[in-house]
This record gives sequence, C-alpha cells and structure tokens, in this order.
Amino acid sequence: MDHGKLIKKALEAREYSYSPYSHFKVGAALLCQDGAVYTGCNIENRAYGPTNCAERTAFFKAVSEGKREFSAIAIVGGDDGADKLPWCYPCGVCRQVMAEFCGGEEFKIICARSADEYRIFTLNELLPEMF
Ligand code: THU
Repeated sequence: MDHGKLIKKALEAREYSYSPYSHFKVGAALLCQDGAVYTGCNIENRAYGPTNCAERTAFFKAVSEGKREFSAIAIVGGDDGADKLPWCYPCGVCRQVMAEFCGGEEFKIICARSADEYRIFTLNELLPEMF
C-alpha cells in the first residue's frame, strides 16, 4: 500500500477522535505485513491518565486480533479545526509499544500533515538505544 493511501486512512480515523479535553485530534493507520490495516484514534478520559493515544489504539486493536508483524504506521494529528495540520510525532509511551513489535529497520513511521506531505522515520531514529 502506498504512503498516501495509508495516510488517508489515518486522516479518516482522526475524525473519530474522542478528545473533549485537549481538543487535539489524532489518527493512526497501522499496516500489517499481511496487508491488513488497523486504524486508531486518541480516546481521552475525564481522569486524564486513562487517555489512550491513536497509535496505541491501532496497535492494541491489531495485536488483540492476532497480528504481530507490521510494516508501517501513518500518524496525523492537530488541533480540532486546524486549517493545516502540524507535524505530530508519537509520544514516548507509543514509541515503547512500537519497540515491542517493530524494532527493525524495515518498519516505517510516517508522520504526515497531508496525504502528500510526510516524513518517514525508523523507530531507531525516534527511540535510540531502545529497551
Ligand atoms: N496523542 C496521540 O494520540 N498521539 C500522539 O502521538 C501524541 C498525543 C493524544 C493524546 C491526547 O489525547 C492528545 O493527543 C493531546 O496530548
């Protein structure tokens, strides 16, 4: 699947963001090695701590359905109603979740502002000397 298509799925998932506290909407689309795609959005909570990021929502959906091998994740995020999305990079907790399943150099983290404006990282670039 090309990067633009995966980013579009992340943009669609972002529409489901439940973020009444931060008003910061995030979407993610996780591509499995078998071609399946799992999407996720951030899900906030009035107690703040239980909030789940979009990336982890996508990972937990996929892993809970038996997926273990992944090729890429597209991530988009920004304030509700923003004209142009900023760059949105995965938080430290999500990077550590990726380390569990996607430590190799082949896994691509695609941070996007739109379907054709994106930056690609390896996990090693975003989480050097990972545990
Ligand atoms: N958030 C994500 O979902 N993913 C990220 O990569 C960064 C932060 C969410 C958590 C919270 O709901 C909101 O964005 C503001 O931090």
